[in-house]
Amino acid sequence: MNNTTNLFSLATKAAQKAYCPYSKFAVGSAILSTNGNFYFGCNVENISYPVGTCAEAGAISAMIANGDTSIAEILIYADSQELISPCGACRQRIAEFATPQTLIHVANKQGTIKTYNITELLPHSFSEF
Ligand code: THU
Repeated sequence: MNNTTNLFSLATKAAQKAYCPYSKFAVGSAILSTNGNFYFGCNVENISYPVGTCAEAGAISAMIANGDTSIAEILIYADSQELISPCGACRQRIAEFATPQTLIHVANKQGTIKTYNITELLPHSFSEF
């Protein structure tokens, strides 16, 4: 299984576990760190809507908790016909742990995959203060 296929499999499985009773929009995300480890997460909603978290945040948290800080590839899967477009906050979250080489894949339930780099998704990002 190649990396992207593996990431797709992990992200779709995570999406099946998504807790999304309010939006009914299941999202799964899987990461391959530059150290070669795989992580995944799903969206977790809340009755107090702003408290909900995105799938990318869960996957990144799992990566950080295991001691990795650099993303080689991340895949974001939505259980929808349309390819998901990661939210602005998640673009910023990914940017924190991305390099110019990081592959950011988005995927839908037909298995269509489109790949971006972080500059395409978050141009002119805030980087110094
Ligand atoms: N969602 C994600 O998990 N990632 C994104 O990049 C966009 C949106 C989730 C949040 C919410 O639970 C649902 O999708 C609908 O917005």
